[in-house]
Amino acid sequence: MTPFDQPILVTRPYLPPIERVHALLDEVWHNHWLTNRGPLLARFQQTLAGLFGIDTNQMALFANGTLAMDLTLRTMGLPPGGRVITTPFTFVATGSAIVNAGLEPVFVETRPEDATLDPQAVEAAIDERTVAIAPVHVFGMPCQLDALQDIADRHNLRLLYDAAHCTGVSVNGQSIGAFGHASMFSLHATKLFHAVECGVITSPDPDLIRRLSRLKNFGYDGPVRIVPGGTNAKISEVHAAVGLACCEDFHAILQRRREQATRYRRNLADTPGIDLFPLPGPEVEYNYSYMPILVDPEQYGCDSDQLEQRLKELNVFTRRYFFPLLNDVEAFAHCPVRGELPVARHIADRVLCLPVYHELTMDAVDRICEMVIQRQQSA
Ligand SMILES: Cc1ncc(COP(=O)(O)O)c(C=O)c1O
Repeated sequence: MTPFDQPILVTRPYLPPIERVHALLDEVWHNHWLTNRGPLLARFQQTLAGLFGIDTNQMALFANGTLAMDLTLRTMGLPPGGRVITTPFTFVATGSAIVNAGLEPVFVETRPEDATLDPQAVEAAIDERTVAIAPVHVFGMPCQLDALQDIADRHNLRLLYDAAHCTGVSVNGQSIGAFGHASMFSLHATKLFHAVECGVITSPDPDLIRRLSRLKNFGYDGPVRIVPGGTNAKISEVHAAVGLACCEDFHAILQRRREQATRYRRNLADTPGIDLFPLPGPEVEYNYSYMPILVDPEQYGCDSDQLEQRLKELNVFTRRYFFPLLNDVEAFAHCPVRGELPVARHIADRVLCLPVYHELTMDAVDRICEMVIQRQQSA
């Protein structure tokens, strides 16, 4: 196979037209206001609220998703050292936010269908120290929302979703951010939609949002009153300008992603040893934020590491999101794990995320698929 002339990376930031960014930066300069509750931030939040279908008073914006999740856990009034049940199949930031908030992650099993937390495993892991559940809608695939809410209600636990991958996802017409006590979205540059660096918390509890808004601004509650636990997790006017420039293309970005994923899925559907997660049901408006495949070494003829290496030789750079499982990395080695996690391990051992970003052409998608298919034929 002929390699690509230029490297095809697993993702590339979406760049809105530079003229649009210039116009917004002109406004920032004209206002002479770079950060601290500026007018562009207010406009960005308002626009995002419209796109997400969430009230502005049920949303707060932060410097990034990790800090947003950490601060939200701090704001929930949980006892220090309390246990938070979460998934091992996630990005390191989920675990770090829990630890940085003075809590202890407990890793439990995931579901084979969508790699999200298995509610039965969650319930079985609850003990007298458990204070919260932090499920992850991994790759934008919604968790078992009703079952998890039911468990949280019955055991009086806080339910904070890591919805970092979920911009544009809704269930039965409701934003995924409307579920649980709160949800965290990441608008990092490599996400499907971004503001360079930014995190969003949504919560049906406006009081939680008010407390968070104080804490992200050093704890200021008026000119002289400062509440404890504050930090600096604000978003600047420059970030808001880039975010606003991306907002205009929100629906086009989602539409392109849908087309790319549909093409990938159609091309790879019958490749022996390449499995795809089933798409979420018709009640879900999905965002196709990642393109994960599962490589079965027996049937495919090589494992996901070897396929990653082979594609690299052809100038295609994939990523093994999320290998290794968090409970297997040094930073979390001391944290409790409930059970052997055979499903999570099976997924993490086989997963490989193929390139997907706005400018990736359909021809490139076809060529990447041919590379994957041909490797199988030559195995
Ligand atoms: C599952 C998950 N949680 C949390 C984060 C952290 O988000 P941020 O980069 O905005 O801090 C990320 C992403 O980068 C992620 O993939």
